Amino acid sequence: MAKVKSKWVCIECGYESAGYLGKCPECSSWGSFNEETQFSEKSANAVNNEFINKEKPELLKDIQLKDDIRISTNISEFDRILGGGLVQGSLVLIAGDPGIGKSTILLQTGGELCECGKKVLYVSAEESANQIKLRAERLQINSNNLYIYPQTSMENIKSQIDEIAPDVVVVDSIQAIYSQNVASTAGSVSQIRECCNLLMHIAKTKNITVLVIGHVTKEGSIAGPKVLEHMVDTVIYFEGDKYKSYRMLRSMKNRFGNTSEVGIFEMHSDGLKEVKNPNELFLNERSQVAVPGSAIIVSNEGTRPLLVEIQALVGTTPYPTPRRVVNGVDSSRLLQILAVLEKRVGLNLSKQDVYVNVMGGIDISEPAADLGIAIAVATCARDVVVDSQTVIIGEIGLSGEIHPVNNIEKRLNEAISSGFKKAIIPYANNVQNNTNKIEIVKVKRLIDAIGACVCPQTVYQT
Ligand code: TYD
Ligand code: MG
Repeated sequence: MAKVKSKWVCIECGYESAGYLGKCPECSSWGSFNEETQFSEKSANAVNNEFINKEKPELLKDIQLKDDIRISTNISEFDRILGGGLVQGSLVLIAGDPGIGKSTILLQTGGELCECGKKVLYVSAEESANQIKLRAERLQINSNNLYIYPQTSMENIKSQIDEIAPDVVVVDSIQAIYSQNVASTAGSVSQIRECCNLLMHIAKTKNITVLVIGHVTKEGSIAGPKVLEHMVDTVIYFEGDKYKSYRMLRSMKNRFGNTSEVGIFEMHSDGLKEVKNPNELFLNERSQVAVPGSAIIVSNEGTRPLLVEIQALVGTTPYPTPRRVVNGVDSSRLLQILAVLEKRVGLNLSKQDVYVNVMGGIDISEPAADLGIAIAVATCARDVVVDSQTVIIGEIGLSGEIHPVNNIEKRLNEAISSGFKKAIIPYANNVQNNTNKIEIVKVKRLIDAIGACVCPQTVYQT
């Protein structure tokens, strides 16, 4: 009988200690240590050593570049997130809240890959074969090449991969499988690390693409150690508003493509459907009559511009310190914009609560949204409206100047195709095309931008 060792592991970062610690010295999280036991009969490193020993260093000049062989998933939104399809031999992690549709999208992807002649092994550690069959019927997947394997043991999974030799393996989920090499329970830091290591080994040595589902913690990060994200080639988050039917795939790390891409899907009774024109989805809920505190921006998420409505609400505060509540934009960014509004435009908001919301439940991180946010706040504070056919694009500097943004032509094209008639853009942005299709107003300073999009006669009447 091998000696049983016990150790304490931080569930946030994987830091190990011989005893319990209240605060992790590595990542500073509190109460994150769990006790884990470990037999050291055959460690994961033994498996890795076999692999590593065969590898020899090569001179840089002798290395032949291999083309990444990409497999199309036949789902164009998913392909775009992946940078043009799944790279053979890569390990992709898809993380998201429970019930968001992770199993659904990967079963659909499995079905599509089989239609293209690929052999897919779907390992389900959470659901029975019956449950998956029911879901497959709902999704109308009926393929001869799709193997379903309800299994939690990593060693059994490995032996079936050897036997079936699939092109793509789906593991649902990394927190539910366990390896005999580690004695702790499934979902523990050591198990997640070990199983991920073994899956990586399978992907790289057998040139099989492995798609792994990961759960997220209530704070929204992937459950398990951060090393999991470092180990895999691609990390994709599946997010969405639980109360609405659309879902977004967002790439956070991609060794083979762009990370700012967003793929949009809508959940139907027969599975996830791609949303080809997301602007219709985000803008069709907006009020047709212009209201104070609403501004349309063109955000450039990845390679596709998105038209998004920013709403602001400004009102006298009943509290000693006014509230700043944001949804979908960075709160420190809002504070900076409010400071510029106060200092450079003379809009005093020190006794006002300010709420800012990005409609459609999406997150806007790029600074080109600054001007739209400032105008939404300013118009609400002054009870005036912006014309509903106007889009606002620009980054605000601390002295109230408007900085140019990237991809201005692409953003304007999107606004034109959605029927917008006027665009407020930074002065320094050069626009050659489309000048006859949309009225372009170039602005140097925030105060000019507010003047350009607010018409004094349009005071809002309730
Ligand atoms: P699921 O893929 O099981 O989520 P996850 O694996 O991320 O936990 O999706 C579950 C939800 O999706 C569930 O609430 C039912 C819904 N759903 C549909 O609306 N339509 C469908 O065709 C399918 C398969 C699921
Ligand atoms: Mg699931």
